[in-house]
Amino acid sequence: MLNRLLSIALLVMTVSVTGVWAQEIDRSSTGGAQNLADILARQNAQKVDNSFRSDATGDPSIAAPTTENLGTLGGQSDPELWRALRFGSADVTVSSGGRVAEVIMQDTGSAWLQFREGPLLSYGAYILGGTLLALLVFYLLRGPVKVDEPFTGRTVTRFKAVERFAHWLLASSFIALGLTGLLVLFGRLYIAPLLGKETNALLLEYSKLVHNSIGWAFMLALVMIFVFWVAHNLPDKTDIKWFAQFGGIVGKNHPPAKKFNGGQKIIFWSVIVFGSVISLTGVSLLFPYEVPIFAQFNPLMNQLGLAELIWGNTLPEAPLPHQEMQAAQMMHTGAALVLMAIIVAHIYIGTVGMQGAYDAMGSGEVDEAWAHQHHSLWLEEVKEKEGAAPKSATPAE
Ligand code: HEM
Repeated sequence: MLNRLLSIALLVMTVSVTGVWAQEIDRSSTGGAQNLADILARQNAQKVDNSFRSDATGDPSIAAPTTENLGTLGGQSDPELWRALRFGSADVTVSSGGRVAEVIMQDTGSAWLQFREGPLLSYGAYILGGTLLALLVFYLLRGPVKVDEPFTGRTVTRFKAVERFAHWLLASSFIALGLTGLLVLFGRLYIAPLLGKETNALLLEYSKLVHNSIGWAFMLALVMIFVFWVAHNLPDKTDIKWFAQFGGIVGKNHPPAKKFNGGQKIIFWSVIVFGSVISLTGVSLLFPYEVPIFAQFNPLMNQLGLAELIWGNTLPEAPLPHQEMQAAQMMHTGAALVLMAIIVAHIYIGTVGMQGAYDAMGSGEVDEAWAHQHHSLWLEEVKEKEGAAPKSATPAE
């Protein structure tokens, strides 16, 4: 208990230290303009309220008075114009190119690039590497989950051909998208130094081609599995019992389960939620500047208070076209990395981690002993239905 309280306190402290706001900064020496304290606060990773700059554009009444240092002589000044360009409030008109071309300057690109080359790569590598390592350790300690009773030789149909088609379309497209996506993300860092820039460039060219074309197959399969399996994945009270007994994966108990157990429901909903985020942001990236999604998403996240909770800050309510693309890239890749880690664990259970599991998606038929151990309630349902309408009724003589 004490340990738990200490960890919570540590977490709260970490969050408050990293997300701390700079104290009120005195800007009287510069007539209200940015000064050394602002720069130092930013260097110390403190958050600085930029409104003193973003609002100081084009309003003579808030311009620094002529009597102050750096006063603007009462009218609009060059810095005001640059600030307006910098914060996207300048009245720019272009003859072609639309809203994108109206953005003359935007500095969020630097923050985005730093994130893409820094935390996204390192956390991505930790998530994937950590999951693979954890599975290896689990396999060495626990070994595969075996079927306790001898196989009966009698089988029941677990997935129809069309369900297996949807699953394998989803699986093959996801694996192809995952591998090509990883090449695009990590290629410059690992492939170029190892195999040379030319090889990396060639791999990237084909990766992009494959990645941009296969996304549609993934989306189609996502819709198919949603329609086929959503009814079986609604949470119910059998899941509580299943989780309480760690799904029989740890220990020797085999809690009763319907068609999908609690763990599988988590996999299903992860695939649906993360898969939808990946699909939506992917379409936005595929048609640059034409499918803006964050102009709707950000205000909603702000209103619900979720932006503050997750990012510690509100999100821009009217993001610039470039910010749309940056946000789409970050969410696309972040969600894909998390889903890849989840799916690696899923592939482990579906192959080496559980005896007899693969057959369910291979031939679609599972042995009754396996079905009884892992999905006893579902087997009862199937048996009842078979009793009501026998599979192969003997024709009357
Ligand atoms: C080589 C790769 C894969 C193998 C061997 C595999 C194997 C399996 C098996 C055996 C099942 C049925 C489990 C049961 O009968 O209870 C299943 C279900 C499922 N698979 Fe896969 N799968 C693979 C890749 C994927 C990928 C890449 C995705 C999604 C991106 C995915 C999503 C699902 C979902 C949503 C289910 C239903 C829920 C569940 O059983 O967890 N699978 N898979």
